[in-house]
Formats: sequence, C-alpha cells, structure tokens
Amino acid sequence: MSITGEKKKQIAVLTGGGDAPGLNAVIRGIVFKAKKLGYDVLGIMDGWRGLLDSKHCGVLDLDQVSDIHMLGGTILHTSRTNPYKIEDGPKKVKETLKSLDCDFLIAIGGEDTLGVANKLVKDGVNAVGVPKTIDNDLSETDYTFGFNTAITRATEAIENLHTTAKSHHRTIVVEVMGRHAGWMTLEAGIAGGASVILLPEEEFDIDEICKILKNRKKKGKNYSIIAASEGAMPKKGQMELQVQEKDAFGHVRLGGIAQRLAKEIEKKTGIECRHVVLGHLQRAGNPTVFDRVLGTRLGIKAADMIDKGEFGKMVALKGTDIVAVPLEKAVGTLKTVPKQRYEEAKLFFE
Ligand code: F6P
Repeated sequence: MSITGEKKKQIAVLTGGGDAPGLNAVIRGIVFKAKKLGYDVLGIMDGWRGLLDSKHCGVLDLDQVSDIHMLGGTILHTSRTNPYKIEDGPKKVKETLKSLDCDFLIAIGGEDTLGVANKLVKDGVNAVGVPKTIDNDLSETDYTFGFNTAITRATEAIENLHTTAKSHHRTIVVEVMGRHAGWMTLEAGIAGGASVILLPEEEFDIDEICKILKNRKKKGKNYSIIAASEGAMPKKGQMELQVQEKDAFGHVRLGGIAQRLAKEIEKKTGIECRHVVLGHLQRAGNPTVFDRVLGTRLGIKAADMIDKGEFGKMVALKGTDIVAVPLEKAVGTLKTVPKQRYEEAKLFFE
C-alpha cells in the first residue's frame, strides 16, 4: 500500500536457468527503480516453477535488497522448469500472475527463460526480459552479465595451472563451460595463456594438437595447457563420443571432453597428461565489479521499460549504452564466436 492507502501496481520478478553472478544486482536495480516509479516488486521463487506453484517471497523492500548486488547466486533461487513442457503450463502462469495481482513481469534469464517470456508476451503477458548467462551466447547484446565473472574464474584457473604443469612436464586439458558457444574458452584461454584453445564453433583435429605439443617440446617448452570448451568436438571418427542426456529445454548435458582428450593425447604422444573440469566453479561466488555494475544498470532499465509499456522487449548492452531490443530477435539465434575472433587466438598456438 502507498501512504495514501492506494494499492500499488505490482511487478513479478523471477530468475530462471543456471545462476549467474550479477543476478542479485539486477534484482536490486529493479526494486530501487520500481519503488521510485511507484510499483511494488513481488519476488517469484524458483524461476517459472514459482509461477506454476504460486511460490513467492512477498514484496521485496529496499532494506532486503540494499546490499545484495555484491552476492553471487540469486535470492529468488532458480530452476530449469519449462512451462511449455507442462500441461496447461502457460495458462497456469497467467492465472498465478492474476491471483497474485501482478500486471507485469520481468524475467531474468538466458535463451530458455527469455524464449518462454517471448511466447508469454504473445499470449498477452506484459513481460520484459533481462539477459543473463555466463555463456555470453545471447544475440542483440554485446555482453551478458555473469560472463565477466566466469571468465575471471576460468582465467585464474588456467593461469595457475601453468606452474604445476611446468613442474611435472605435463599437458593439462582444462574443460570450460559455455555449451555450444566458445566465448568463455576463447577469452579465458587467451588471458590465461593456453597453448591451444578448442571451441565448439570448429571441429578439432587431434593429430594437429599433438603436432603443436611435440613442437613445443622440441623448442624446450616442456609443458602445455589446452583450454577446451565443454562443447568442443573432434573431427569425425577421431574420438568416441559420450551418450548425453537432455534437460527440459532439450539441451544435452555436456561434459567429459577434457578427460577423453587427455587420454587420447597421452596415447598418441607419450606426453603425460591430466585434465581439470572447471564446472560450476565458474558460476560460483560473488560477481566482479563489471557484473555488479552491468546487472544494476540492466535492472534499472527493465523497471523503466515496464513503466513505459515496452513489453516484448529485452534490455541490452550496446557499446556502453543500455538499450531496449525485441525479445524475438534476442532469442532467435545463438551468438557464437565469429571465425575471425578464433583466428586471432590461433596466432598463439605454438
Ligand atoms: O548455461 C550456463 C551453463 O553453466 C553452461 O555453461 C553449462 O553447460 C550448463 O549451464 C550447466 O548446467 P547445469 O547447471 O544444469 O549443470
């Protein structure tokens, strides 16, 4: 209620998909701006699942969110629930929003969460999207929050592995998350000084990799680090692939490439190999300065867009500006690493 006793308009906010450092900064930005504009913000718990089960944490007040931009994870928790895979899911989502007295919705998530938001807009829901993913694979935005923190973690790991690899004359294969986009592996691989970087965007040739490693040895470089995307694929017939299970959005659960590659390289070259899977360490912990600030700015803009009635749109970073772009365009195509960016990295494969 406002001081005049009048009921305020309510915005429901949810976070969906894998967590990404910076989510809490977005929530804080939304709550502060929404309050200024005269709205209450209702926190929906566990992503889309919360709108199916009517699970929420009540109206978020300024005190509750005042310091959360420094914290990793999401105070609203998350899930990979897909309402469009559940009988009457979209209908239930709309009914829950109505029963909670929320005329507006802000969905913070990656291509899956925003894909659902986009469909709901077509179904009459007044929704705005905020792009989130450590994978940085969403179109129409230069960067997603979470990515900077994830590459900072991955870079530290790759950089630190140099001393142990060097001490043992070993090759270490580091598996980096990112699904079907190699952004994290590319940037952390360059920054962390990997000798070879393998991306999902281009099938790799094991014999080529072995040649680079042997050449390094000949030149007196007694160790190597290979940064391999979890979605990197060998050329046909070169390595056995794992059978992979799928999640509610139809994504295969990736993983295992580093272990299999390390084994194969050792067999082919006689060089002692080890592997490291960075996994969820890349998403864990508190966000970097970049992600705290980006998240904050995206949150403020999302609340502003609700007020201006810019539904069916997503907030985005273009250069240094925060702008509104159509959700449809953002979820239409995955943003992968362009060939020329990979060529730049290859200059240092030696
Ligand atoms: O999309 C983010 C991401 O961390 C991917 O890089 C990774 O493949 C996937 O999520 C892991 O999913 P989960 O957290 O469900 O294991």
